[in-house]
Amino acid sequence: MDIYKLGFSEEEAVLREVAKPVTEFTPELKEFISQMIDSMIKSNGVGLAAPQVGVSQRILVVGFDDVKPMALINPEIIETSVEENVYEEGCLSVPGMYAKVTRPKEIKVQAWNERGRPFTIEAGGMLATVIQHEIDHLNGVLFIDHLTEKSREKLLKKYNKVMGLN
Ligand code: NI
Repeated sequence: MDIYKLGFSEEEAVLREVAKPVTEFTPELKEFISQMIDSMIKSNGVGLAAPQVGVSQRILVVGFDDVKPMALINPEIIETSVEENVYEEGCLSVPGMYAKVTRPKEIKVQAWNERGRPFTIEAGGMLATVIQHEIDHLNGVLFIDHLTEKSREKLLKKYNKVMGLN
């Protein structure tokens, strides 16, 4: 699977779309999710959202350290803590760029698994950040959108230079 990147117009268009809910839990969906997990691992990512591989559907996968790779389909954040956490985030769609982003420290998420079973997950620490980062992707939002305009411009300038864009 190719990872779609910021700065390439057709790819960026998919990254900026609001993804559509999954309505059917098919064997093809399971296969797609296992390919997403493989791509995430091969790319040394800790999460991956379907729009990042060109599929505008509400599917994401996460996995790192002792968090076993798992899929969240049609995920909705149903609770967030008032307390916040700051993590240095990066993104496979904005390769090589990192910036500190502030998000709620703990979240509760309702989602479906690849077999069509609903579940809720309570996450804290890095997992909470990764899930929020990936849910953002389903809404066409990138981590750079959370930065101040000044920081974002600085990051994009560097990114364009590194990627040979503009
Ligand atoms: Ni990302």
